[in-house]
Amino acid sequence: MLNGQGGRRRSPSRGALLGTRDHANTIKLGTQAAMPNAVSLRSVSKRFGRHVAVDRLTLTVPAGSLYGFIGPNGSGKTTTLRMILRIILPDEGEVEVLGAKEGAAASDRVGYLPEERGLYKKMSVRRILAYYAALKGLTGRAARREIDAWLERFELAAWAGRKVEALSKGMAQKVQFIASVVARPELVILDEPFSGLDPVNLEVVRQAILDLRAGGTTVIFSTHDMHMAEQMCDFVCMIFRGQKVLDGTLESIKAAYGADTIRLRLEGGRQCLEGLPGIERLRDLGAMQEVQYAGDTQELLAALTARTRVQQFEVAHPSLHDIFIRIAGPEAENGRA
Ligand SMILES: Nc1ncnc2c1ncn2[C@@H]1O[C@H](COP(=O)(O)OP(=O)(O)OP(=O)(O)O)[C@@H](O)[C@H]1O
Ligand SMILES: [Mg+2]
Repeated sequence: MLNGQGGRRRSPSRGALLGTRDHANTIKLGTQAAMPNAVSLRSVSKRFGRHVAVDRLTLTVPAGSLYGFIGPNGSGKTTTLRMILRIILPDEGEVEVLGAKEGAAASDRVGYLPEERGLYKKMSVRRILAYYAALKGLTGRAARREIDAWLERFELAAWAGRKVEALSKGMAQKVQFIASVVARPELVILDEPFSGLDPVNLEVVRQAILDLRAGGTTVIFSTHDMHMAEQMCDFVCMIFRGQKVLDGTLESIKAAYGADTIRLRLEGGRQCLEGLPGIERLRDLGAMQEVQYAGDTQELLAALTARTRVQQFEVAHPSLHDIFIRIAGPEAENGRA
């Protein structure tokens, strides 16, 4: 398990394009001055009754980065996001957002897609978006231009005059996404932005998030989609039972786990692996198997070729999905018991 801030010193793969991270608190973008953190949490805790939802959480989100929160249900992701938004206040610790340690001052500069979706159903799509834009100070022609561009982009232009109640769930979610970004906030916080979207809309929202990020917006989102987090994020933070258990670039997280995973395609399937020493975990994906292996990979390859035709043998770092399961899955649970 990787704890603490170790990984943040490494540049993400896109670092070459964007500049370099020189230490834990700043990103240098080209020749521009070092940028501060968009969000810092210092030993933040939140209790609900006797239940500790967030437990001494410390993290920093560099300005301009795409930061993903992962973790099992009930681990404290939404509670943390709400504290960043100051919708709820921590019992202990300090939350700094866009340079401000308290007050709602940051809120005009922060957009939010809440986990509980809810738009006024009787209002038209255009009116509701104008309302959200105005809430954050964007009005008149500038607001109309922004709204039109988003509706066009999300293929909702034909629905602009319709009431929200006429929209499908996915369409309403796209409208709510637009509501959170329409006023061009500096920081966007999205609580599970992909849940309930079909693959086409998922791609549309994903691209929109990447474009926001490319334009300099800091984006924090939570997701249960490990693949998405793995592909998109500059930094990933995993919360488990209110505590941070992973934090850093994907490269650093994976490096901490080592290249202990072997992806296999074998004529004869999983039976060919039976009884081989060093296999600590086997995930049977059907046509492929993924094993966590402690031993000499060349010996494993030799043992397998002696048994069957090896169609694929790939030594790799574990996927984020795998790391998640290792930390939070039932086996880890039994190990802790
Ligand atoms: N308002 C509240 N009152 C009481 N308990 C709460 C409240 N909000 C959250 N909790 C509890 O705090 C814990 C963390 O909840 P939270 O919603 O932050 O989890 P999450 O990581 O977002 O989960 P999910 O993936 O299911 O959305 C849970 O045990 C939850 O029951
Ligand atoms: Mg949640």
